[in-house]
Amino acid sequence: MMKQFYRLPRWLRIVLPAIFVSLCVGINAVAFTEMMTLFPQINPSQIFNQTILEQAEAKLASPTKLPVLPTATASSTLPFEPVSEPVPEPVPEPDTLTIEAKYGHLPYAEGNAIAMERIASYAEGDTQRYEMLHSDAAAALLDMVAAARVDGVWLVPTSGFRTIAEQRTLFNAQMATKGSPEAAALTSAPPGYSEHHTGYAVDLTDGTLPQAEDVSPAFAESFAYEWLLANADRFDFELSFADNNSQGIAYEPWHWRYIGSAAAKALFRPQSSAQSSAPLTIQP
Ligand code: DAL
Ligand code: ZN
Repeated sequence: MMKQFYRLPRWLRIVLPAIFVSLCVGINAVAFTEMMTLFPQINPSQIFNQTILEQAEAKLASPTKLPVLPTATASSTLPFEPVSEPVPEPVPEPDTLTIEAKYGHLPYAEGNAIAMERIASYAEGDTQRYEMLHSDAAAALLDMVAAARVDGVWLVPTSGFRTIAEQRTLFNAQMATKGSPEAAALTSAPPGYSEHHTGYAVDLTDGTLPQAEDVSPAFAESFAYEWLLANADRFDFELSFADNNSQGIAYEPWHWRYIGSAAAKALFRPQSSAQSSAPLTIQP
C-alpha cells in the first residue's frame, strides 16, 4: 500500500492526503453541529468534559423517556368531588302571556323617582303642586307643549308620576264617593294598577278651561284635545282609554301615555316586546 503510494506522482502524494484531511475535518464538523442541535444546553467549552459526554450518550440511548403520569382514578380517591355543570332545563314557551288585571286595570310597578323630571307647576295657592314624568316622556311632552303653543293651543299637564301611596289615597276617595271598588275603578285605578306609577302617563287639560273642568268630559270638546288627536303621535303619545276601550274603563280623553322608548313600550305593549309569540290574555 505504502509502496504504491510512493509510486504516485509527487503532486498527487500532496493532494490526496490534503483531500483526506479535509474530508475528516468536514465530517467531524457536521457531527459536532448535529450534537449541538441535540444538546443545546451543552457548553462547547465543556464538550470534552467526560461527564457531559456520558450524559449526552445516555440521552441518545433513551431520548423519549418521560415521567409517568398517574392514570385517572375513581372520584373517591380524589381530594375533591368533581364538579359537573348542571344542564339547564328547557323553559317551555307559555301558551299565553297572562296578565292579571284588577277591575280592568293592569298592574304597574312604581317608577324610580330619581328617573323623573319636573314638567309643570299645576294650580295656585293651597292646591299648587309640581308634576313629574320620566325624563324620556318629560322631554317629549315639553316638545309637544311647545309645538301646540306655536299652533295657538295651550296644553297644561295636571297629573304625571304618582306613587302607589298617592294612588291609594285617590282610589279611597273615589270609593267613598262612588260606593264600591268596582264603581271607583271606572275612573280611578286601584293602587298598583295605574299607568301613572310608571312616570310615562300624563293627564292634560286646556289652559283656557276653568280649573273645575280639568280632567272632565269638557276636555273632549277643547281645542287642546282636537290638537292632540291630530298631533300627539308625532311626539310618541297615545290615548290610553279611548271611548269603549276593551278594558272597560271610562273614556278619559285627558289621559295620555308615552310609548317612544323601548322601556315605555315594554310596559304598555307587553306582547310586542315579549320574546314569545304567545297571545296576550288579560284576566279580569
Ligand atoms: N284615571 C286612571 C285610570 C288612573 O287612575 O290611572
Ligand atoms: Zn290619568
